[in-house]
Parts: sequence; structure tokens; C-alpha cells
Amino acid sequence: MNSSKPMINVALPKGRLGEKVYDLFETAGYPCEGIKEDSRKLIFENPQAGIRYFWVKPSDVAIYVERGAADIGVAGKDILLEYQPDIYELLDLNMGKCRMAVAGPKNFRDNTGRTLRVATKFSNIALDYYTSRCREIDIIKLQGSIEIAPILGLSDVIVDIVETGTTLYENNLEVLETIVPISARLISNKVSFKFKNREIESLVKKIRKNIKE
Ligand code: PRP
Repeated sequence: MNSSKPMINVALPKGRLGEKVYDLFETAGYPCEGIKEDSRKLIFENPQAGIRYFWVKPSDVAIYVERGAADIGVAGKDILLEYQPDIYELLDLNMGKCRMAVAGPKNFRDNTGRTLRVATKFSNIALDYYTSRCREIDIIKLQGSIEIAPILGLSDVIVDIVETGTTLYENNLEVLETIVPISARLISNKVSFKFKNREIESLVKKIRKNIKE
């Protein structure tokens, strides 16, 4: 046992996806006692396995990794596309699968004579998408419950994540266009990838073997 071996600091997204991601790490040989117990503790480590986990808000994972507070982490492709953090994307974990889509009222017809009002948490993704289609839009930036915007007339459409489609269905909305498929990605800080290369590469190899198709 070598307790001086470099620890890999991992930012895990708090929530259901994070628990599935942890299971993947555990199966790959990076277990950590107590991490799934119901508590308010946020940092867990297993020096023997050379791993330390932090539970962070899913949308914050990329910031921890970009700034080196975590060596690696798991973030949704939606966050990577939106914030373009300066990190390496190492693996597609093939979990947390959903899509980024334009949605709106059933039978919505775009009136191209008017600026399209788009409510979203993902302003950059929405802007890139509509810029590539030469469509002028007005972004209405919201933090959540985006589906309400077109119902109340705050926007014409939304750009948001669709997983099962239940939220749209229950609010009489539907997918109008799919922008991009989304899934969880293993990401690395660029400096850590250089200085902890052996440890990170070895982890990536073990994780890759356990990714479900
Ligand atoms: C996300 C997303 C949709 C919903 C889609 O919201 O913004 O509202 O999940 O999932 P579904 O297709 O399976 O219904 P989230 O739960 O993250 O909450 P939010 O309203 O705060 O964005």
C-alpha cells in the first residue's frame, strides 16, 4: 500500500446521474466507503485506491475541472457546448442520454417576418443554432421550468433538454427540431492530464471497459 501515491480528484454531478457515474467508477476499481449514504457530506476519499470524490452541482463540474480544483469530472455535453470550458473530453460515458431540442406549442408555425423569441437556459447553444440558420432571435434567459414560457406567451419556443418527453407532453408542447444528442462525458483538467497522466490514463482504461453500450 502506498499512501503517497497521487490522488485523482473527481468532481461528480450530484443527483441520480452522479450515483450512476459513481457506480461505474466503483466497478472500475475506485470504491469509496460511505459515499452513497444519505448525508450532507460532500467530500469522500479512498487513499488506497488513490481517489477523492466531490459532489458538486452538475452545471458546476466543468468549472471545478477547468480551474484544476478537480483533476477530472463528469459533465453533460450540454454544459460543455454551452460554456466551452478549456478542458479535455476523454470519454463518452453513454449515460445521461437526452437531446437538446427546440420545442413549442403543437402545430407551431414560425413567422419568419418576426424575430423569434426563444426561452432557454442555454443561450449560447440557442444562439449558435439559429445563427447557423440565419434566423434572428431574441433570447429570454431563464433558470428553470422553461416549458412555462411559451404557455404564458413569454416566448414563442424554447431550447431545452428533452429526456423522456414527459415534461413537454404534460404541458401540451412538442419537439419541433432536434439540435444535438447529449450524454455524460468524462473530462480532465489540462494540467492534471499532463502531471497525473499515468493515473488518469489508467483510470480511463478501466472506466472504458465498463461503459455499457
Ligand atoms: C430538465 C429539462 C426539462 C426536463 C426534461 O429539467 O429542463 O424540463 O428535464 O425531461 P423529460 O423530457 O424527461 O420530461 P430539470 O428537471 O433539470 O429542471 P429545470 O426545470 O430546473 O430545468
